[in-house]
Amino acid sequence: MQDKIIQYTAEAEAFNLNTTEDSEAFRIKYLSKNGLLNLLFEEFKTLPNDQKKVCGQLLNTLKTVVNNKFNAFQESEKGEVQNKEVHDLSLESTYSNYGSRHPMSLVRNEIIQIFSHIGFTVAEGPEIEDDWHIFSALNFQADHPAKDMQDTFFIEQNPDIALRTHTSSVQVRLMQTQKPPLRAIMPGRVYRNEAISARAHCFFHQVEGLYIDKDVSFADLKQILLYFAKEMFGNDTDIRLRPSYFPFTEPSAEMDISCTICKGKGCAMCKKTGWVEILGCGMVDPNVLENCGIDSTVYSGYAFGMGIERITNLKYSVKDLRLFSENDIRFLKQFENAI
Ligand code: PHE
Repeated sequence: MQDKIIQYTAEAEAFNLNTTEDSEAFRIKYLSKNGLLNLLFEEFKTLPNDQKKVCGQLLNTLKTVVNNKFNAFQESEKGEVQNKEVHDLSLESTYSNYGSRHPMSLVRNEIIQIFSHIGFTVAEGPEIEDDWHIFSALNFQADHPAKDMQDTFFIEQNPDIALRTHTSSVQVRLMQTQKPPLRAIMPGRVYRNEAISARAHCFFHQVEGLYIDKDVSFADLKQILLYFAKEMFGNDTDIRLRPSYFPFTEPSAEMDISCTICKGKGCAMCKKTGWVEILGCGMVDPNVLENCGIDSTVYSGYAFGMGIERITNLKYSVKDLRLFSENDIRFLKQFENAI
């Protein structure tokens, strides 16, 4: 029996274990119920005692060889399956959900770009401001009815500190701290105490602009606004200026552009007039210049201000202002491919 076991051990070691079929043949030959190991162990029981020691050791060696070989193959097969999965190039990839820019950011960046091409820098200032920067320096009298134009959120009942109602406050800060010539735009968030609806919100975004130098005229203002309208809405866009009133500009105007939706023919967007209002503007009132320490006999300037929501609305036909702040992924996803 010793010779038989030694021979089987050599055979088991030499067994070619390469495929799943090989491994099954190996299992049946050595490890199955009627396999060699079981048969040999049965036979072992019948041996005379003096042979048991040597044969037992040999038999255990055979068992170890067979088990090790079989297990090793199974492990390597498992590994191969795993490797195959990792390297299977036909597998569908998992994809990440990239965010996209908010439409307001897209339009704000576009406005900034358009004005930076003609030499405007960007100025920013605080959203919590004092009365002087929001109103007084801008020629709003203490009890001036114009103050009612902008319903204000005051901070902790302090009538002097408020959330800014327009970014004109940044114009004041700029005029106070820098010497003319000044040429800057002021993008930022502003707040007004309004009931929230599709057409109004208690906060919105503006870009205002300011240019102060010697001999700045209303014609310069009109030219820059025409340039802006054509860059923003296309070369075939027309503008018109209507007289208006702001405490800080004189003369003041509101600017309309030819309707981007119906191209001037008349539609719901322009209420059948062919024109839509997009901004307020005017020549900086000499009082404002003086309030900010600029000699109004030497310098003049223009200012303008627009709501980014309004521009975005015209560009992307967003009918309800509330969509801009609701973070609805289905809305935001529509701007994934906008530049
Ligand atoms: N500050 C004005 C507003 O918020 C806009 C404006 C800016 C008008 C500059 C004229 C000149 O409505």
